[in-house]
Amino acid sequence: MKLLITGGAGFIGSNFIRYILNKYSDYWIINFDIVSYCANFENLKDIEKNPRYKFIKGDICDEKLVNKIFQKEKPDFVVNFAAESHVDRSILEPKKFTRTNILGTHTLLETARKYGVKKFEHISTDEVYGTIKKEEFKETDVLLPNSPYAVSKAGADLLARAYYKTFGLPVLITRSSNNFGPYQFPEKLISLFITNLLENKKVPLYGKGLNIRDWIYVLDNCSGIDTVLHKGEIGEIYNIGGGNEFTNLEIAKFILKELSKDESFIEYIKDRPGHDFRYALDTRKIKKLGWKPEHKFGEAIRKTAKWYKENASWWEKIKSGEYLKYYKKQYKNL
Ligand code: DAU
Repeated sequence: MKLLITGGAGFIGSNFIRYILNKYSDYWIINFDIVSYCANFENLKDIEKNPRYKFIKGDICDEKLVNKIFQKEKPDFVVNFAAESHVDRSILEPKKFTRTNILGTHTLLETARKYGVKKFEHISTDEVYGTIKKEEFKETDVLLPNSPYAVSKAGADLLARAYYKTFGLPVLITRSSNNFGPYQFPEKLISLFITNLLENKKVPLYGKGLNIRDWIYVLDNCSGIDTVLHKGEIGEIYNIGGGNEFTNLEIAKFILKELSKDESFIEYIKDRPGHDFRYALDTRKIKKLGWKPEHKFGEAIRKTAKWYKENASWWEKIKSGEYLKYYKKQYKNL
């Protein structure tokens, strides 16, 4: 089986590639990634030389290149992780998100329709639903995204669904909650807070820190994506949530405790504009396929903090900007 993974040099994509190569000895992977600021060749250093792995650098909006890849590689499955993913950046540069997330996904869907694939799994997010005070979002709920990022993901998600409804493309969609774990770019809440504290810096908490997220360890999301890819019903949408709802202040306190720091390391700062209050997912549908999260939150946070401690050279390079110079050089050599 040949899988085309887009955005496989990023956080969730790289974890998924490693997961698939370890689990299926007869699967071949093509990682198609532009290697933008948050992707990193070092995320996949251990599998770079695996004969079942191939890397192609490029943009999912580049129609010519995307066509060439489908024509030459003839992938059986496509899993689309490629996306601009950070809400705060979407507030600064919204158009970039529309381009990559909507136009890029559209280019992939159109090409997959032209050449034919057995399955096209689109990785979406719980942010497409918007915010919810009580209860949990179901897959059938209305989409009311609030940030430019969430809108761009909702657009891509709906386009993927339309390609199933209109053209019969075998599409599957997953909407997951907030991921954390190894190789997460240090701009998201957990990765930023751990690395700041390891540098003895304060952690910036938006507003009063009372917004709520549901956290999932990245490998549980990988197994969920794998479950949907192999057991999901074509044309269906599946929520993937960890069932670990916490306020950001609670998360900050967990991490402070884990790294033996006190609350004086918290710096309360101006709130994010349009900040969604709470995300929560009803995961009964994917659980019917036999999936459940395997990692307990406390242990997973501990494991994640340990990974960042032991892999300081990975994130220090990113935070100091050294890596940005390094990968520009790598581009030229590709
Ligand atoms: O829900 C899934 C989504 O989770 C993904 O689709 C997005 O790609 C991903 O970025 C994430 O979005 P969030 O905005 O929820 O994640 P982030 O880590 O940026 O923020 C989590 C919460 O922590 C949010 O309420 C804002 C707050 N926060 C975040 C940062 C970076 C802070 O208080 N301080 C910070 O410095």
